[in-house]
Amino acid sequence: MNIILLGPPGAGKGTQAERLVASRGLVQLSTGDMLRAAADTDTEIGHRVKEIMEQGQLVSDDVMVEMIHERILQPDCKNGFILDGFPRTVVQAEALDAMLEKQGLRLHMVIEMAVEEAALVERITGRFACAKCKHGYHDIFLPTKVPGVCDVCGSTEFTRRKDDKAETVHKRLEAYRAQTMPILPYYEGRGILRRVDGMADIDVVTQEIEAQLNKA
Ligand code: AP5
Ligand code: MG
Ligand code: ZN
Repeated sequence: MNIILLGPPGAGKGTQAERLVASRGLVQLSTGDMLRAAADTDTEIGHRVKEIMEQGQLVSDDVMVEMIHERILQPDCKNGFILDGFPRTVVQAEALDAMLEKQGLRLHMVIEMAVEEAALVERITGRFACAKCKHGYHDIFLPTKVPGVCDVCGSTEFTRRKDDKAETVHKRLEAYRAQTMPILPYYEGRGILRRVDGMADIDVVTQEIEAQLNKA
């Protein structure tokens, strides 16, 4: 099954994708994670990407389309994938359709995670992740069971994203409204868009998504 998790910054795409990887054996394709890996390299593209992300703007469509195209061709995507953070513009959505068609693949479902903007800022500014295994947490909503120790791998080192500052979050939300929301009608028209209440508790959101996927 090939699905898209669509939603504003902090909606819970990464959190839910991680669970679907475990429950359904799908591969998570997070363009944000791919870009952060690129931004960590001392290369021209790395520097450029880092600057754009820290300003809360979108990386160009041609870079993104090439990045996801290369990734989708990898053999591990054959059993199904979850797109997290892609597509983010109509141009990207159209390019995705073209590349899937070429390989005889299709999208089964696009799940929109709807969350109120005030909640998003709180979620993003409280987010942190394990430095070793990358498992995601939240200061209030999803803390580690033992303070300062990762539930999954026992590491005591954690990281926070540079673009998770309140002022950058507002720019990211603006980009979502202006550039990403226009792709909702694109999928709605095809009858594959489903909406879940992303304001619910994390476990409830997981159940809602699983229920939608079971109907596909
Ligand atoms: P990306 O990494 O994709 O960031 P984003 O879309 O802004 O989304 P986030 O990762 O911030 O949120 P999320 O929905 O994954 O939420 P999470 O599960 O972590 O992109 C970063 C940047 O890269 C972009 O700004 C852009 O510059 C660039 N980029 C990426 N893709 C691109 C593309 N295709 N084109 C162009 N540029 C691109 O949850 C957030 C927090 O809330 C966590 O702490 C979590 O524990 C908590 N939480 C989750 N669910 C709940 C819940 N139900 N209740 C309470 N707390 C919750
Ligand atoms: Mg994410
Ligand atoms: Zn860990």
